[in-house]
Amino acid sequence: MTLFEAIQKRYSYRGAYRPVQVPREDLRKILDAGLAAPSGCNTQTTSLIGLDDPALIETIGGLLEKSGFAAAPAAVCVLTRRIPAYGDVYFNIQDYAAAIENCLLAITALGYASCWVEGQVTENPEVQQNIARAVGVPAEYTVVAYLPIGIPEKEGKRPSYKPFSERAWFNGFGVQ
Ligand SMILES: Cc1cc2nc3c(=O)[nH]c(=O)nc-3n(C[C@H](O)[C@H](O)[C@H](O)COP(=O)(O)O)c2cc1C
Repeated sequence: MTLFEAIQKRYSYRGAYRPVQVPREDLRKILDAGLAAPSGCNTQTTSLIGLDDPALIETIGGLLEKSGFAAAPAAVCVLTRRIPAYGDVYFNIQDYAAAIENCLLAITALGYASCWVEGQVTENPEVQQNIARAVGVPAEYTVVAYLPIGIPEKEGKRPSYKPFSERAWFNGFGVQ
């Protein structure tokens, strides 16, 4: 699959996964893709934990509401550190967003599906802390997102996106 195909094929999958193991080699490729993302002033504030231990995934997935996530054969826990890029300027949110998209594209390119699960992680500090505890995250890191990984039992649907002409232009706002 080319990069452009992966970009257009990626969508948020929230259903059940086939009980097929994700090889460690693929999980490593997904983590490597995330770590290769740019970061403000190269501060590399994002860290990633690959999960392929079914008991751990069930524990963490079970903390999240839509628990199709609990039955994924693999997952990535996304962590950030609030390190300033310079002065009191922080880019760690942008950094982890870039890392997540790289992971999602790698996941898609390898034939798996996933979902950027951040709201369900960060909206509830108890869930966030319990995930951190489950994977032994030190206090200076914050768990910000969870990406389940697996082969979908039944492919989901991409949502509709606003037309190009409503959101992108050439040489000026609104210029077709
Ligand atoms: C910052 C952010 C947080 C998100 N949090 C969640 C979440 O907690 N749970 C979930 O099911 N989807 C979550 N999503 C996925 C979005 O709902 C999804 O990307 C959006 O509806 C567009 O659909 P698509 O990913 O299929 O293009 C999140 C996406 C982003 C970018």
